[in-house]
Amino acid sequence: MGRVLSVASEAVPLVKTGGLADVVGALPAALAAVGWEMRVLIPAYPALRKQAARWPVVWSERDLFGGPATVLSGEVAGTAFLLLDAPHLFDREGGIYAGPDGDWRDNDLRFAGLSWAGAAIARDGLADGWRPDVLHAHDWQAGYAPAYLRYGGSAVPSVITVHNIAFQGFSPAERLTALRLPEAEFHADALEYYGGVSSLKAGLVTADRVTTVSPNYAGELRRPEFGMGLEGVIAARGTDVSGILNGVDEAVWSPEVAEHPYSATRMRGKAKARAAICAEFGLEVPGPLAIIVSRLTDQKGIDLVPAVTPEFIAAGGGVLVLGSGDAALEAQMQLLAQQFPGRVAVRIGYDEALSHRMFAGGDAVLVPSRFEPCGLTQLYGLRFGTLPVVAAVGGLADTVITANPAALAAGIATGIAFHPTEVAPFAVAMQHLTALYADPKLWAQMQRNAMRQSVDWGESAARYAALYAGLTA
Ligand code: ADP
Ligand code: GLC
Repeated sequence: MGRVLSVASEAVPLVKTGGLADVVGALPAALAAVGWEMRVLIPAYPALRKQAARWPVVWSERDLFGGPATVLSGEVAGTAFLLLDAPHLFDREGGIYAGPDGDWRDNDLRFAGLSWAGAAIARDGLADGWRPDVLHAHDWQAGYAPAYLRYGGSAVPSVITVHNIAFQGFSPAERLTALRLPEAEFHADALEYYGGVSSLKAGLVTADRVTTVSPNYAGELRRPEFGMGLEGVIAARGTDVSGILNGVDEAVWSPEVAEHPYSATRMRGKAKARAAICAEFGLEVPGPLAIIVSRLTDQKGIDLVPAVTPEFIAAGGGVLVLGSGDAALEAQMQLLAQQFPGRVAVRIGYDEALSHRMFAGGDAVLVPSRFEPCGLTQLYGLRFGTLPVVAAVGGLADTVITANPAALAAGIATGIAFHPTEVAPFAVAMQHLTALYADPKLWAQMQRNAMRQSVDWGESAARYAALYAGLTA
């Protein structure tokens, strides 16, 4: 069995702010099935520190960017975790990326510390004798790990996965030494980025392979509107860059294990789940009940929802929103709920259990993103027969078979995709949703198609395995 060290800032079931955690947490089991043993290195944030208090120490360093650090090793829900306990970097109350006054100002050092520990473990192994064959870094938070390996002269191969290129880990040039980066590499072909440094760029130029989370996003990343300044760096890596689609952890996200269980051939539980969620939120919706489970940010196109809602409501629809993020978007959503009592309900906050009840009880899930590297909520929608209405970007375009005339004639549609991400095509998609829902036979067929579409990790795990194998052969 080959060994991989996965380095990231979040992973289920320990800590989650978004899809990154779902993916990092699901990969170890998926890869074990194809012959790769993965351990996951994440920071020991305060709650995790307590949980790991008795775990054995398998790595330590006296001065990890300003203080002592240890790595504790333990297993949670079948996954091997390595928790980086560096109190000066991670033991603070607040969010994992931000405190009460916004992003932690030393975020670059905090995650450089994570990356440094990852590189050191890859190079020297752990006290228990475990040593990885490959280091797999995720996003900007782990971007310096491949760089530390490369600039330290290590031969351990590395992969970096871009989950979202919008977050780049920028620091001014004067941080170079504090970040333990070599002055000689401060030029445009290596570390330098708009006069400073970016941990994501550092990973992109030093990792042996670059992946992103859908094939379509891999192509989009070469264009300025999606590459966000790194399009040239991505293009320069040529065929080293590939897109490997995220999967769904079906042990966690399946209607068969929902509160009111159901399946493609026995849908009664879904009707119960719908009635239950409507009762919970005081909704009475004769047409399709559309759900949104999302960070409320510009990326997600949530600002387009108010414009398409009145017509959708007039046609019989309803909207149930769970999310948090930008204050202005939160307020817009709350205003909608006030305008349409009984038809629109909003819960501001983060609630994993409620999200499950919503995927089970909704008829459709709306994902009008401006960009979406992969997107997981449309995959959960497919799995639950909660048909996705998506903007045709990134992984959304790769995973939803839109109900165009050809797909309907072939009987293969699984949702609705619209393009570009603007109000007019979104409104037409919502009209289409209402019309499809009004045809029970067609709707039931689309639900069956969606629930039978393969969204598990099987194929993608095999692709990661092949990538690792190619690097260690
Ligand atoms: P991103 O990572 O960009 O936020 P994804 O679609 O990949 O987008 O993943 C989002 C994940 O976070 C999904 O598991 C989704 O269910 C979850 N999620 C987002 N907002 C909330 C919320 N307010 N409450 C519960 N889960 C949420
Ligand atoms: C990012 C992206 C999302 C993707 C997730 C997991 O947060 O925004 O599209 O699904 O990472 O890869």
